Amino acid sequence: MAERPEPIVISARPAPPRVPAVEISIDEIALLFDRFYGEIRQHPRLGPLFEDRLAGKWDPHLERMNLFWRSVLLYSGEYSGQPVVKHNALPDLQEDDFRLWLELFEQTTASLFEAGTAAPILVIARRIARSLWLARFGTPFNQAPDWLN
Ligand code: HEM
Repeated sequence: MAERPEPIVISARPAPPRVPAVEISIDEIALLFDRFYGEIRQHPRLGPLFEDRLAGKWDPHLERMNLFWRSVLLYSGEYSGQPVVKHNALPDLQEDDFRLWLELFEQTTASLFEAGTAAPILVIARRIARSLWLARFGTPFNQAPDWLN
């Protein structure tokens, strides 16, 4: 009788539980973006850029930002969307606006959290800002500036 080939056994280990990227609560994320958008709206350059697109729609936008940042920081998986497409569709967006955004974001996180929490949030924000910047302005002749690294 012909020998049967050994069955192939594939043993899969369950993925280890994902530890949140930053120790922060849902309420703290909500507070951060409440504050940050309060600052954005008053900002002489960024305020009008947002207002042009979000007049009358700030609340649903803020809700989406919360979903996005909970997904990023806590791996909640609640956000799905196309941030690159959305930012590429902003007609007046300039390269330096990302620097202003990061500057304000850094000030807001530093005013709310200890350095151990604020620093990793900023690293993640800068990484995302960099990919949005590259998607919008990057070419072989226009590399991301130092403040995005
Ligand atoms: C350079 C400055 C920026 C400006 C002026 C800006 C402006 C805006 C505006 C007006 C929207 C709403 C778009 C729409 O609903 O059609 C938006 C959406 C969004 N922005 Fe920004 N943004 C900036 C930078 C950033 C950065 C650095 C991040 C992340 C680190 C970010 C994350 C998002 C996300 C997640 C959305 C939601 C997209 C969606 O609705 O699914 N933005 N932004």
